[in-house]
Amino acid sequence: MEDRETTYTLVFAVNGERFELSSVDPSTTLLEFLRSRTRFKSVKLSCGEGGCGACVVLLSKYDPVLKQVEDFTVSSCLTLLCSINGCSITTSEGLGNSKDGFHPIHQRFSGFHASQCGFCTPGMCISLFSALINAEKTHRPEPSPGFSKLTVSEAERAIAGNLCRCTGYRPIVDACKSFAADLDMEDLGINSFYKKGDSREVKASKLPLYNRNHEIPTFPEFLKKEIKSKMLLNSENHSWYNPTSIEDLQRFLEFNEVNNRTRMKLVVGNTGAGYYKELDRYDNYIDLKYIPELSMIRRDHTGIEIGANVTISKAIEALREENKDEFHSGCEVMLKKISNHMEKIASGFIRNSASVGGNLVMAQRRHFPSDIATILLAVGSIVDIITGSRHEKLTLEEFLERPPIDPKSVLLSIKVPSWAPINSETNTKLLFETYRAAPRPLGNALPYLNAAFLAEVSPCKTSDGIIINNCQLAFGAYGTKHATRARKVEEFLAGKMLSVGALYEVIKLVRASVVPEDGTSSPAYRSSLAVSFLFEFLSPLVDPSSEFSNGWLEGCTGNLLVDAAKNYDHSEHIKIPTLLSSEQVVELSREYHPVGEPITKAGAAIQASGEAVYVDDIPSPVNCLHGAFICSTKPLAWVKGIKFKPNSLPDGVIAVISFKDIPKGGENIGSKTMFGTEPLFADDLTRCAGQRLAFVVAETQKHADMAANFAVVDYDMENLELPILTVEEAVKKSSLFEVPPSLYPKQVGDFSKGMAEADHKILSAEIKLGSQYYFYMETQTSLAVPDEDNCMLVYSSIQCPESAHITIARCLGIPEHNVRVITRRVGGGFGGKAIKAMPVATACALAAHKLRRPVRIYLNRKTDMIMAGGRHPMKISYNVGFKSNGKITALHLDILINAGISADISPIMPLNMLGALKKYDWGALSFDIKVCKTNHSSKSAMRAPGEVQASFIAEAVIEHVASTLSVGVDFVRNINLHTFNSLYLFYEGSAVEPLEYTLPAIWDKLARSSSFYQRTEMIKEFNRCNKWRKRGISRVPILHEVSLRATPGKVSILSDGSVVVEVGGIELGQGLWTKVKQMAAFALSTIQCDGAGDLLQKVRVIQSDTLSLIQGGFTAGSTTSESSCEAVRLCCSILVERLTPLKERLQEQMGSIQWDMLIFQAHMQAVNLSASSYYVPDLSSMKYLNYGAAVSEVEVNILTGETMILQADIIYDCGQSLNPAVDLGQIEGAFVQGIGFFMLEEYLTNSDGLVIAEGTWTYKIPTIDTIPKQFNVEILNSGQHKKRVLSSKASGEPPLLLAVSVHCATRAAIRDAREQLLSWHGLDGSGSAFQLEVPATMPVVKELCGLDNVDMYLQSLLSS
Ligand SMILES: Cc1cc2nc3c(=O)[nH]c(=O)nc-3n(C[C@H](O)[C@H](O)[C@H](O)COP(=O)(O)OP(=O)(O)OC[C@H]3O[C@@H](n4cnc5c(N)ncnc54)[C@H](O)[C@@H]3O)c2cc1C
Ligand code: FES
Ligand code: FES
Repeated sequence: MEDRETTYTLVFAVNGERFELSSVDPSTTLLEFLRSRTRFKSVKLSCGEGGCGACVVLLSKYDPVLKQVEDFTVSSCLTLLCSINGCSITTSEGLGNSKDGFHPIHQRFSGFHASQCGFCTPGMCISLFSALINAEKTHRPEPSPGFSKLTVSEAERAIAGNLCRCTGYRPIVDACKSFAADLDMEDLGINSFYKKGDSREVKASKLPLYNRNHEIPTFPEFLKKEIKSKMLLNSENHSWYNPTSIEDLQRFLEFNEVNNRTRMKLVVGNTGAGYYKELDRYDNYIDLKYIPELSMIRRDHTGIEIGANVTISKAIEALREENKDEFHSGCEVMLKKISNHMEKIASGFIRNSASVGGNLVMAQRRHFPSDIATILLAVGSIVDIITGSRHEKLTLEEFLERPPIDPKSVLLSIKVPSWAPINSETNTKLLFETYRAAPRPLGNALPYLNAAFLAEVSPCKTSDGIIINNCQLAFGAYGTKHATRARKVEEFLAGKMLSVGALYEVIKLVRASVVPEDGTSSPAYRSSLAVSFLFEFLSPLVDPSSEFSNGWLEGCTGNLLVDAAKNYDHSEHIKIPTLLSSEQVVELSREYHPVGEPITKAGAAIQASGEAVYVDDIPSPVNCLHGAFICSTKPLAWVKGIKFKPNSLPDGVIAVISFKDIPKGGENIGSKTMFGTEPLFADDLTRCAGQRLAFVVAETQKHADMAANFAVVDYDMENLELPILTVEEAVKKSSLFEVPPSLYPKQVGDFSKGMAEADHKILSAEIKLGSQYYFYMETQTSLAVPDEDNCMLVYSSIQCPESAHITIARCLGIPEHNVRVITRRVGGGFGGKAIKAMPVATACALAAHKLRRPVRIYLNRKTDMIMAGGRHPMKISYNVGFKSNGKITALHLDILINAGISADISPIMPLNMLGALKKYDWGALSFDIKVCKTNHSSKSAMRAPGEVQASFIAEAVIEHVASTLSVGVDFVRNINLHTFNSLYLFYEGSAVEPLEYTLPAIWDKLARSSSFYQRTEMIKEFNRCNKWRKRGISRVPILHEVSLRATPGKVSILSDGSVVVEVGGIELGQGLWTKVKQMAAFALSTIQCDGAGDLLQKVRVIQSDTLSLIQGGFTAGSTTSESSCEAVRLCCSILVERLTPLKERLQEQMGSIQWDMLIFQAHMQAVNLSASSYYVPDLSSMKYLNYGAAVSEVEVNILTGETMILQADIIYDCGQSLNPAVDLGQIEGAFVQGIGFFMLEEYLTNSDGLVIAEGTWTYKIPTIDTIPKQFNVEILNSGQHKKRVLSSKASGEPPLLLAVSVHCATRAAIRDAREQLLSWHGLDGSGSAFQLEVPATMPVVKELCGLDNVDMYLQSLLSS
């Protein structure tokens, strides 16, 4: 028996500091504690449900007997504080910081340009750190100096569960890979450490040194000394208990039953809370981790028994352990396959604390769509449970089929039996495979369906075939209560010799057996997956040369089955890198040095270490309260009242603020744009689901969130018309927003004439596009602090503080000079923190004004998703006329935009759309665009608002024309590209000059650099040879019109020569501060004194303050960086002009003059060293066009609908880039966000318009396994553009449009799949038109490839 000591206080360490707590609310998470009770703010809250990795910390445990430290990552948002007793926590601050020196991880993240907004970065750094130190514990050979024992594949997988919305992951992967022992230095991308041409040795030597022997200790010595024995927290103060034996546990449970008024929870990793989103607190928590029987792993010849507490990570290790003595190789292969499957469950930081038992109990009790239940069901596992004193052993199947086990039942263990070896007499062989179809191949996504199949097969004695002696087929997660065995199919197969005919019967049976329950999404797709997987499993038994055989049944027929066993082992956990090396080409220009240099983003290192301060990191002022919104769930209803269950006013709640609390003289206003205002709160009538009804203010964020969650709104629909929920109804009822004529784009040419010239016409074709959510990693947040004399200071994470400032003043009815809005940095905006951040700031200000106390809010992800609105959905119908050669002569579009309930920025949408839609020469272009007012939440600007949809519409028309003519799409694109003359006609008013029209050159260059034509031929061949995988390639041009807006700037030179800069633009991660710094350094260097050439380090850009710099405007539309730069250049010119006479005088007197001395003298001589400016762009150059093109190649698995992006090549014209590293980051990040829109992200609502995709479980943004495997980007330096800001061009939004190439490539692959499908029907499939929806998710793709393609294939074989 181990030594254990009971403690009554909770003791642990964070970054080497000791913490001891005598009383804790046991529902407190580690994240809550770190963020609210320590100075360590690097742990970020982003999802609160285990799905994003922003909160990842390293948890270290010390074993005093073995004297070993175990280190692993966990999500601090789910880990309960009481469960870390005796542990040590390391956060990114603990690795290094600005005072003591950064860790090489921080330095490399910074130098590889892997941090943009920085909100994901500390979590990424910890995930990498954990992988590094664990690799060091292996017995691998010593790596070369400066490298670790980590492999490239491990480096990539280390961050597989961490989400980043800004970078597109490629630079993050580079930073991680740079530590790997097996790295080829050539595989690393652009960075600030070395130059491309440097030798490998030089490159390696220039990376910030990683010294393996000097790694920081993760477990402090003082805690080791304290933990002489394992410390067990058993404390009534904490309501937390750690039983150490089953008997102990039974006593606790009995005691609890006697006092059965208490609500008790058994916990292990507490990750289940991420799925069930439990907010309420239990009376008692029983931590099962210290019961030895529940934590053991026992192996003998009968099988492997895994204690219920064993984490999934530990189970994976155990299942992979080789031990030839106990299990036959066939069984060992099976166990490895189980472990490989388990590695796709959640992400590393969840698997490290999630227990196998917890997973199965969730599956049994609450119908969780478990992977573990399915795969263990197929192998006939046995569970061991106790209920009170009753001990039972059941099959997993019996366990799952029982009614939900009661709270006092405890799962002790699960046993995977050993399976019989090959019987050499009967020549039988065991086959086992597992499957899952999920939107992310590496995990962190629940499957649409999972399956595991076990079969015992032997050769037929009388013929060449193979007989299935028996089999166990399990399916799960497809919308049933729990995983099930397909008994009818098993019975059908038992003893059968497999043939094509038998296979056909089998799949019919499967389709009938695997039927999701009513209400499950994509039911037919899920059933088709069951068919696909079983077909994949069985088809090699019919045809050993099948695509799926992998050689594992080679020689399987006749007497060669024993030999086949050698081929069967394809379970090896193959660790191939996920991403291939990618190439970035940038042309540097030193003309305006340091402008044009790829310098590291300002603040990247402090973002990595977690020292960068976001709004929610600002310590709460004394007496601070916290708010949460109560939102409507109805689209149109009277709000009769709001009550709380179960109390009248829940714990900790101070007030509930609504429109009734708007002060006298104030207005019910939550946001404003040039098109109007939106109310802060609904009045008596709510006009959309998601509308703010009230703001609960409570002592803590948790209390506020819980109260808002438990609020019950009393609605009434009396005397109300039906809400308008579709654009068609809006048109019928003339519910439209007015578009000012000056903003309505102009038609081009004569449509009727163009149609008359056409040889062919397509009439009334329709397209629908859905919405997209911003998924900034930092949700909306604000802090309002009342100040003296009726003033209000508001910190807001916002893209337009000026508008928030005005809104707050109007809401409170106070003059604008009483309000000050401060924004330092924003943890991702993408348009979502422009208009939508205003009501958040205003609600805090209103509450603070009323309660005379500071009030803050950090929106939980669910509320953020419900309120955000997002991208505009739309419905498009078009008529297009074209010549037989593909030249389009006329296009007419009718576009209905769903703008939601308020105008927001929606009336600008037609203009935006046309700016991108006119990328082709349509001959004549006419359109009717209506901005519809509906009872949906108001839609707002999202990165490339309108432009991305328009770019898609243009491609859909082109694709439609091509398929109608049965000619290549690329050919039709080519023939319709603008000549300069047609461009001039279509973009009258934009600054268009022949030399600037770089698109034709980009178009041709990209074809060459991406080997477009050769690859197109290779793909044809690939598709001819492969039945179940089809590839597609597509080259797409983009054209994106942007315009500059007026922007202020202020530059001040302090007495020591350091420079402080203020600009209207906000740093959102897009590198605005970095470019501004470069510009200030360049513009001041024109003074030409000694040391002025090196001013970069002396410049600091500071937070935006709406009273210090007024008229800040919006940070939106891609041009704020350049206009802020121009404003700064103007300020610097003023300063240089003021300083020049003094400089000349001093130079004359002293021969030369240093910058510092010049400034010192200027201060002495009362030169005004602060200058401000307001840059107003010249009307003639306000608008300009951006050009780029992309080639994408994808591979579609037509059995599952999965699309893999094999390669993307981009060329983008950045003019003369202000900072190529920053622009590259914008291009890659935007492209990946575009992939999200086109391929993955479903922002679903219910029939009332209420958002139902409310978090990371249902909303899937791209991850490292869904970006292009190879991602090559070239930034074209198109030289001088006299009218631009130092010849630069925008990069923030236009590259997002390029992602349409992925969608088009997918369409190309599907086209081939459909042709094949029709050929199985005996039909000619060429030229058949079809629409591919956006996003092209797995069910959408599979449906187009044929939900019944397996059936059709088999039928075709049977009939041939
Ligand atoms: C982001 C995320 C993604 C995920 N993705 C997947 C996935 O793709 N596939 C998949 O299969 N799973 C997935 N999971 C589920 C995950 O496997 C489970 O959350 C985890 O295994 C539960 O273990 P735990 O120790 O954290 O349980 P806890 O959260 O501590 O407990 C879960 C429940 O089980 C009860 N319980 C725990 N142990 C016992 C016991 N021994 N006896 C009786 N009751 C017990 C608890 O009281 C509680 O009700 C995911 C989870 C997260 C958070
Ligand atoms: S905040 Fe913890 S995983 Fe997202
Ligand atoms: S840098 Fe990763 S989310 Fe912004």
